[in-house]
Amino acid sequence: MELILDTGNVNEIKELYTILPIDGVTTNPTIVAKEKKKFIELIKEINDIVGEETPIHAQVISTKYEEIIKEADFISSIRENIYVKIPVTSEGLRAIKELSKRGKKITATAIFTAHQGFLAAKAGAAYVAPYVNRIDNISGDGVNTVRDLVSIIDRYNLNTKVLAASFKNAQQVLELMKVGVHSVTVPPDIAKAMMNHPLTEWSVNKFIEDWEDAFGGGIKTWD
Ligand code: G3P
Repeated sequence: MELILDTGNVNEIKELYTILPIDGVTTNPTIVAKEKKKFIELIKEINDIVGEETPIHAQVISTKYEEIIKEADFISSIRENIYVKIPVTSEGLRAIKELSKRGKKITATAIFTAHQGFLAAKAGAAYVAPYVNRIDNISGDGVNTVRDLVSIIDRYNLNTKVLAASFKNAQQVLELMKVGVHSVTVPPDIAKAMMNHPLTEWSVNKFIEDWEDAFGGGIKTWD
């Protein structure tokens, strides 16, 4: 399963990319707006941290077919390894179909149903991104929607990965791992929640305390 960071905060990306096996970075217009930087500059800063080999997913803000095509051409020219995120409106789906035919790498986003995800996958999107927590927030079942989408994509051997997005807690991520989701994109706080546990730190402190009680401080295993 791919683990992707859903943020434009370069300090967080730098910190987590150093520690964790990160497979990419996703942004959206809200994420970019939060950083108050020009889009192109932010993408270049992220690129400098993660390197050319790591995929970046960046979203169009255009909503009309012709404009989406133009903007997708621009975004995909920024770097080799970039996925253009396009919301699955009817204009967006039309653009996904056309751009995929032209060989562009597309991540279909703002997906709320397995139907939408299936249609975007069939239109040629490399990734389809259902919004787990936003589905939960409208009295839906985000995990179940993703489970359905993963099973549809796998059953019909579609050449698309489900990239689950929009998380409120690490448990939602765990539930999706259990159903075989192909990728998740998580904000830094959720990546940290997956990584940390207070008892890990407590255990390490206890090991050191016991060791130092027996052998004194500064003694290593090789001494
Ligand atoms: O990138 C889109 C998705 O991650 C949105 O997440 O937390 O704003 O619902 P959220």
